[in-house]
Amino acid sequence: MKVVVLSGGRSSEHEISLASGQAVAAGLVEGGQEVVEVKIAKDGTWTSGGEPVEVVPGAGLLEADVAFPVLHGPFGEDGVTQGALDTAGIAYVGSDVLGSSVCMDKLTLKRLCGFAGMPQVDFVQAFTPGWQAAAADLEHPLWVKPSRLGSSVGIVKVEEFEQLEAAVEEAASHDPRVIIEANSSGREVECSVLGNEDPETSMPGEILSDSDWYDYEAKYTEGRMNLAVPAEIGEQTTAKLRRLAAEVFTLAGCAGLARCDFFVEENGSILLNEVNTIPGFTQTSVYAKLWEASGLNYPELLNRLIELAIERHASESTHSF
Ligand SMILES: Nc1ncnc2c1ncn2[C@@H]1O[C@H](COP(=O)(O)OP(=O)(O)O)[C@@H](O)[C@H]1O
Ligand SMILES: [Mg+2]
Repeated sequence: MKVVVLSGGRSSEHEISLASGQAVAAGLVEGGQEVVEVKIAKDGTWTSGGEPVEVVPGAGLLEADVAFPVLHGPFGEDGVTQGALDTAGIAYVGSDVLGSSVCMDKLTLKRLCGFAGMPQVDFVQAFTPGWQAAAADLEHPLWVKPSRLGSSVGIVKVEEFEQLEAAVEEAASHDPRVIIEANSSGREVECSVLGNEDPETSMPGEILSDSDWYDYEAKYTEGRMNLAVPAEIGEQTTAKLRRLAAEVFTLAGCAGLARCDFFVEENGSILLNEVNTIPGFTQTSVYAKLWEASGLNYPELLNRLIELAIERHASESTHSF
């Protein structure tokens, strides 16, 4: 297959995406695929080998069989790029416009999960009627987040209620949609999901870090985070967490891949934190490490994702609309 790997992008996760993109490109070559790398600059322009790349409706993309968006955050992981690829008529790895945008927006995903009875922390949307009073009732410390971002950018942990306004302002400087969440004191356990209609789940892994919470530094400073696989949460909780991961994947309309992140509390209850449709994707990123521990190596994982993209594209092209 000829695979276009898209990396970079307009979001603050640009550099993280470049690292993931490079690893994915190398892994695909190792797995026997032909790779064309397309870099998306911070100003949104697409280039390949320094030459501009155009996305033309119905014209495919660089005569490739499939595209692999390795983009994080706004414009890349939220359905915008997926829409451009749909417009070009090209198969691509991962979730479609709907699944991508639902998962990118923490508020929307949480509301959907609320309807479905998925266990999660309580939350309030800032600037909606009565939001301050509602936030005061949530379990503190509060977590204030831009609804559609990642890599912990713009997140403030609010210990004192007086700090709430400032935190909300900070989050709102990234996204006018701001979510305020109750605290979970649970352990952070993540599960990788792979598939389309009938997704498979990896062994869950626990994030162990010496920092107070899993902030940007802890995520991307070498040696600051340790992944314990399998997470030592017992057989029953493991099975339940994997079931919830597959459930939320389907509920949110995901395809191909997602990393589903949970809190596992002292009493064994499992709360969904978030779903990442394009998680960090180097060989040592959590998504790939969890599959490695579950018996699927990096090039195999990438090849499976290509297959799933082709399958989804083929099945979608049979729909009448
Ligand atoms: N409700 C919460 N309770 C406890 N810790 C939280 C909560 N929300 C976020 N955190 C901490 O902040 C980190 C980043 O939050 P998350 O919602 O995963 O944002 P991002 O999309 O940027 O990864 C989490 O990994 C966790 O360490
Ligand atoms: Mg997270």
